[in-house]
Amino acid sequence: MFKDLFVTKPVEPAGHVDAGEPVEGSLQGEANLKRVLTARHLVLLGIGAIIGAGIFVMTGQAAANHAGPAIMLSFVLAGIACAFAGLCYAEFASMIPVSGSAYSYTYATLGEAVAWFVGWSLVLEYLFAASAVAVGWSAYTVSLMESIAHMFGSDWKFPALFASAPVTYANGQFSATGSLFNLPAVLIVAGVGYLCYIGIRQSATANAIIVAVKVTVILALIGFGSQYVNPDNWVPFIPAHEGGDRFGWPGVLRAASIVFFAYIGFDAVSTAAQEAKNPQRDMPIGILGSLVTCTLLYIIVAAVLTGMVPYTDLGTAKPVATALERYPALGWLKFAVEIGAVAGLTSVILVMLMGQPRIFFAMARDGLMPRFFGAVHPRHHTPHKATVVVAIVAALLAAFFPLGVLGDLVSMGTLLAFATVCIGVLILRRTRPDLPRSFRVPMAPLICILGALSCLALVGFMGWYNWLLLAAWTAVGFLIYFGYGYRHSKLRQG
Ligand code: ALA
Repeated sequence: MFKDLFVTKPVEPAGHVDAGEPVEGSLQGEANLKRVLTARHLVLLGIGAIIGAGIFVMTGQAAANHAGPAIMLSFVLAGIACAFAGLCYAEFASMIPVSGSAYSYTYATLGEAVAWFVGWSLVLEYLFAASAVAVGWSAYTVSLMESIAHMFGSDWKFPALFASAPVTYANGQFSATGSLFNLPAVLIVAGVGYLCYIGIRQSATANAIIVAVKVTVILALIGFGSQYVNPDNWVPFIPAHEGGDRFGWPGVLRAASIVFFAYIGFDAVSTAAQEAKNPQRDMPIGILGSLVTCTLLYIIVAAVLTGMVPYTDLGTAKPVATALERYPALGWLKFAVEIGAVAGLTSVILVMLMGQPRIFFAMARDGLMPRFFGAVHPRHHTPHKATVVVAIVAALLAAFFPLGVLGDLVSMGTLLAFATVCIGVLILRRTRPDLPRSFRVPMAPLICILGALSCLALVGFMGWYNWLLLAAWTAVGFLIYFGYGYRHSKLRQG
C-alpha cells in the first residue's frame, strides 16, 4: 500500500497543439476545453491575478507594523522567491500543458499522495483567495459607492447589516460586527462565477479590460505620487527592531511573508495551459512576463507610498487612498485609485475562480475526485459543474469570514505548492531527461533548490496558528483522499 501511494503518472511528450484541437486527457464522447488563448491573453491573465488585495490592502499593515520603508526590500525578497518558482512553473507548464498546474506536475514526479496534498493545498490558494479578495472588494466598493453618493450631496450609507462578515478578527480575538453577512462579496463572486461558467474567451476579454484600468491607475499613482515623495520619510530605512517580528530584519522577513500574497497568481496562468493556442511557447511568456511586470510595479509603488507619508501612517485598510488623502491636489487620483482597486480586485477573483475548477477538472479526470467535477459544458466548453460548486463555496466563505483569517492561509497553501514544483523540476530532469523542454530553468539544480528553500523559509515566518489550521486542512484532505480518491484512482485501476 505504501508504494501505491507514491505511484507516478507517466508523462508523454506533448506534441504541438493547435487552436480547437482536442485536449489531452479528454474523455471519449465528452466535450473538451477549447484552445483560444494567445501569449497576450496569458500575460494579461497573470497580471489580472497578481495585482490585487496584496498591494491595495496588505502593503499598509506590513509597512506600518513590520518593515517600515524597507517594505521595498520585503517586496524584493518575496519577488526573488517567486522568480525561482516562476522559472520552475514555466518549465513544467511548457512541457506538460495541462490544466492541473502544480497538482499535475507533482503527480508526474512525486506520486499520487503528494499530488493530492498539493491539489488540496491549491484549494487554499485559489478558492480561499477568491473569497479573501472578494471581502477586500466589498470594502472598497462600499466606500466607493458612499463617495459617489457624497459627491451628489447625499449622505447615503450602505446598510451595515449586509456590509461585512458577522465576526472580525483582530489582536488574536474574534468579535461581533453587528452585520449578518457580506452581501457585496457574495454578489461579486456570483457575477464573476457566471462569467467563468459561460466561457474562457469571455472571461479573458473581461480580464483584459479590467487589467488595462488597474495598470493605468497604478502608473498614474507612480507618476503623480512620485512628485510628492519626501526622501526623509525613507529614513531610517529599516526601523530599529522592537522585539518579535516588529521591525529590524525579523520584521522585513515577516513583511516579505505577508506581501508574498501580492505575488500569488502568476502560477494561475498555468491552469489555462489546456486552453492556450501554443502552450509550449506561450506559457513561459505568460508566467514570467506577468511576474516581472508586477514585481517592478510593486517595488516602485512601495517606494512611492513610503516616500509620500511616514510609514507609521500606512496601517489602514486602504493604504494607497490614505497616502493620497494627505495631498488635497491629488483628490481626483484617490477617486481613480478606488475605481482601480475595485477593478483590480475583480480580476483577481476572476482568475482564481477560473483556476480552481480547472484543477478539480484535472483531479476528476484522474479519478481522484468525483466524475462530476470533470464535466465540460457542451456549448461553453468550460468545466461548468465544478465552476458552480467552487463559486457557491467561495461565496459562502466570503459571506461569513473576515479577510485576515483567510490571507496567511492562502499564502501557506501556495508556498507549499511552489516548493513542491521546484523539487519536481529536479526530479523530472533525472527521471525523464528525454522529454522535450521548450523552456528550461537556467542553472537548474541551483535555482530549483533555492526556489524550494526560499518558499519554505517564507512559510517559516507564518504564525503558529496558521500551522494549526494548515494541519487541520491537510487532515481533512487525506480523509477525503482515502475515502474516495485512493479507491477510484484511474492510475491504480490500470
Ligand atoms: N495576488 C493577489 C492579490 O494580491 C492574490 O490580491
